[in-house]
Amino acid sequence: MGKGFVISKAVGIVLVVVGAAAVATIIALSVVYSQEKSKNNEVKPTTTTSAPTTAPSNEPWDQWRLPQTLSPQSYNVTLWPRLQPDPNGLYIFTGKSSVIFKCVKETDLILIHSNKLNISDPVTLTALGSKPAPHIDSIKMYPKTQYMAIHLKGKLTAEESYELYTEFVGELADDLGGFYRSEYEENGNKKVVATTQMQPTDARKAFPCFDEPAMKAVFHITLLHDRGTVALSNGIVIGEANITEEGTLLTKTTFAPTEVMSTYLLAFIVSDFTYIEQIDEKLQIRIFARQEAINAGQGQYALTVTGPIMKFFEKYYNVPYPLPKSDQIALPDFNAGAMENWGLITYRETALLYDDEISSNGNKERIVTIIAHELAHQWFGNLVTIRWWNDLWLNEGFASYVEYLGADEAEPEWNIKDLIVLNDVHRVFAIDALASSHPLSSKEEDVQRPEQISEVFDTISYSKGASVLRMLSDFLTEDLFTQGLQTYLDHFKFDNTVYTDLWVHLQAAVDKTGYSLPKTVQEIMDRWVLQMGFPVVTINTATGAITQEHFLLDPTTKPEKPSEFNYEWFVPIKWTKTGTEKPTKWLLQKNDQVDDMKINANEWVLANINVTGYYRVNYDNENWERLLNALQTSTQSIPVINRAQIIDDAFNLAKAGHIATTLALRTTLFLSVETEYMPWESALDNLDYFYLMFDRTELYGPMQAYLGEQVKPLFRHFTDLTNWTDVPQGHTDQYNQINALRVACSTGLENCTNLVNGWFKQWMQNEDVNPIKANLRSVVYCSAIAAGGEEEWDFAWKMFGKTNVATEKDKLRAAMACATKPWLLNRYLSYTLNSMLIRKQDATSTIISIASNVVGQSLAWDFVRANWEFIFNQYGGGSFSFSSLINGVTKRFSTPFELQQLIQFRDDNANIGFGSGTLAIQQSIERTTANIKWVDENKKAVLEWFESQRKP
Ligand SMILES: *[C@@H]1O[C@H](CO)[C@@H](O)[C@H](O)[C@H]1NC(C)=O
Ligand SMILES: *[C@@H]1O[C@H](CO)[C@@H](O)[C@H](O)[C@H]1NC(C)=O
Ligand SMILES: *[C@@H]1O[C@H](CO)[C@@H](O)[C@H](O)[C@H]1NC(C)=O
Ligand SMILES: *[C@@H]1O[C@H](CO)[C@@H](O)[C@H](O)[C@H]1NC(C)=O
Ligand SMILES: *[C@@H]1O[C@H](CO)[C@@H](O)[C@H](O)[C@H]1NC(C)=O
Ligand SMILES: [Zn+2]
Repeated sequence: MGKGFVISKAVGIVLVVVGAAAVATIIALSVVYSQEKSKNNEVKPTTTTSAPTTAPSNEPWDQWRLPQTLSPQSYNVTLWPRLQPDPNGLYIFTGKSSVIFKCVKETDLILIHSNKLNISDPVTLTALGSKPAPHIDSIKMYPKTQYMAIHLKGKLTAEESYELYTEFVGELADDLGGFYRSEYEENGNKKVVATTQMQPTDARKAFPCFDEPAMKAVFHITLLHDRGTVALSNGIVIGEANITEEGTLLTKTTFAPTEVMSTYLLAFIVSDFTYIEQIDEKLQIRIFARQEAINAGQGQYALTVTGPIMKFFEKYYNVPYPLPKSDQIALPDFNAGAMENWGLITYRETALLYDDEISSNGNKERIVTIIAHELAHQWFGNLVTIRWWNDLWLNEGFASYVEYLGADEAEPEWNIKDLIVLNDVHRVFAIDALASSHPLSSKEEDVQRPEQISEVFDTISYSKGASVLRMLSDFLTEDLFTQGLQTYLDHFKFDNTVYTDLWVHLQAAVDKTGYSLPKTVQEIMDRWVLQMGFPVVTINTATGAITQEHFLLDPTTKPEKPSEFNYEWFVPIKWTKTGTEKPTKWLLQKNDQVDDMKINANEWVLANINVTGYYRVNYDNENWERLLNALQTSTQSIPVINRAQIIDDAFNLAKAGHIATTLALRTTLFLSVETEYMPWESALDNLDYFYLMFDRTELYGPMQAYLGEQVKPLFRHFTDLTNWTDVPQGHTDQYNQINALRVACSTGLENCTNLVNGWFKQWMQNEDVNPIKANLRSVVYCSAIAAGGEEEWDFAWKMFGKTNVATEKDKLRAAMACATKPWLLNRYLSYTLNSMLIRKQDATSTIISIASNVVGQSLAWDFVRANWEFIFNQYGGGSFSFSSLINGVTKRFSTPFELQQLIQFRDDNANIGFGSGTLAIQQSIERTTANIKWVDENKKAVLEWFESQRKP
């Protein structure tokens, strides 16, 4: 989001528990990290066929974009949120605001955004120049386009400035959008926080404003709040006074005027939070959270890493941090992962708060990368801002790339930069290989309505954006990339851009240094930005021929629209021959020839070293065989990232029919000698699909037997290394220890299940002492709850209520979805629509976790179908990620019957709509169709292969 951010990493956990009767039940649990992008601002129904983007009339108030007649200069906004309900039980805020704007083009209409605000009389208009202001004729609200329209009796004069003053009342609802409230309990007392989430289009819910990113202005903010509470905003506090207003004792906090900035980056927060701080060369860095959390030291990690990351970006951008302070605050209710509000970054608790004893290594990584992401935006996004939301991919893709660089600075031992390949490149390949994908760049006119704007906050924008920018930085060299970046930031500070402005500055850096590129930056990047998808490069090591084609997971599908570039790309190919690095080959046409790629005996070719390129690679059979052999016999001769790549490419090439599925399966044979995380994770991700497709079939047994054999050496490796009491040194080793445990347990290795269930029992016997290592908790909880019944589940529920640590809550919440008793799962599903039990922000991911469980799959699907209207109406206004919900509950679909149900669901609810999930419905139908075909074509060969692997 702005949304901050978002990391939407999905870690699939496949867990099987062998019960006393040796009856295996499989649980697939997806720990779904909340996505930054999960905002849905629009409750209005949309149909699945893309809704007409043309407004019903040509009147300006029926258009989704502001007319370019007025330009805001500064605002003066005073807001007073009530943290106690009024006699009707309603939480409200009141406000007054004036905006000074310049008239750019003569007009008799003032159109300003205002959504769900009750504007009171009088609205006044004052001229600041010599000519008097025209009188107001009428004021009309347009709820659909979210405008207040002030019709004037005369015209505003071009070049003159005016001041418009309004007073208003809004609801401080718990809808996670605009000015909203979050609630929590502390020491038995209910506490209310007033906070904001403006991006992309909800500043207009807090006060009337020209709510477009290019309408930058200076904001003078004042907050009225109960005495003893803390008020925060983008700027530093310049005045505090005790006042009495309407008979209430209040504090009035005035903030320094902001820099020139966009409305979507504003933030106002009133709470009784506390903070810790650090002054870094005059820059004040503070971490705010609930008092209990701060007092327990949970803000310390964030505070420790912020300074170094900040310094890193100052150097990287060669621009000092533009503000005098940096506040970061953890909120109990927050829809996205985090939001980069300028100077006051908001987070969900799990994205900022870390407890040494309780939080896992993965929690820590999430925190440091999200902080780096949001800090990166303070310059790229906030100081220099995209002109319109169609270019969001540049903003989010950039931050999603450099978050790894910033995090690497804070945790240099982690090799965290490598993980972009798993977390972003591989992840988005899966989506971008569908015919229903879309290009990074959209046309301005195609992104107009709030729900269309919401829809661009997707994996393509974040992860493909990050992947292609990483490729660009790699082929330009990081040195040139930062040179261009620095002049871009300097040139456009406090202003707005379109994405090609960055290309211009990178090209200037190229030209200045005489760096050799086969095409211009723009020519190369156009092909990656303007057309969807990516190529598969096929290398024939017998002839030296190389060729590219658009990689489609289902080759029988075709993209709806032709591409002006014919689905061809300019591809930088970094490659090695038997481990020896070769000069980068640029593939500039469909076919080319590289004689050096021919191989002799014992040689092999490996391309896309470290997956810096956004493409897949296929080879002739001979080279595949040699790579398989090298993996087995000299594993280290292939870089670890490429060991993960070979697996991921092979599985996907097989899925698309380029190679045999059994060849893909054979890329997992070397795992018996592999201890590194990335190859394991890549294999498990890919095998996860086999589990989804086959865990309800006779293939399940042989598949389990194979994976169980493969994981044994890894389990032994970690037993020797840690005896399951020590924590491995390396960051990714810690991850792979978790993999070893979960796969060993899920395939029924008794050494594992005994260990894990024993730990959980121990905890149940003394709930005050949790003996389970922080890193291993997700797996242990899930395994024990799956093996157990009501008692284990209720214990987990009790601990869920009791813990004060958000990351721990998340682990328990995900693990409760691992239950194997349908009634427990149904009860849990019903909890998700009761925000007293499961916070609204967590509803989607809880339902998805339940759907990931083979037992819960059909229950969750029934539940979503039965409650769609309720979910859509109750949660539509900002808190539900419909697209991940729909994808989550349908991902196992692989039969014609399920396809029919899905189509029925779409048709039955056409009148209600799917909001931000509209595209996801289409994708789910496409995915189900592909699954049906894949199962049909592959089941027999896969079964035979797994059976042939059984040890006699
Ligand atoms: C903002 O408005 C208040 C009254 O609402 C006024 O006292 C104050 O001077 C104004 N500040 C600016 C910077 O215009
Ligand atoms: C406001 O009143 C509180 C007591 O209610 C006092 O502690 C505080 O110092 C006062 N602040 C100012 C700015 O006068
Ligand atoms: C590939 O990545 C590894 C690990 O990050 C790194 O050590 C190596 O230098 C990289 N290789 C190339 C050719 O960039
Ligand atoms: C399981 O535990 C037994 C006894 O401690 C040990 O001999 C065996 O090697 C273990 N198996 C694995 C796969 O770790
Ligand atoms: C490993 O841990 C177990 C307890 O979990 C203990 O009984 C055993 O002695 C330990 N083994 C070694 C080699 O430390
Ligand atoms: Zn972001």
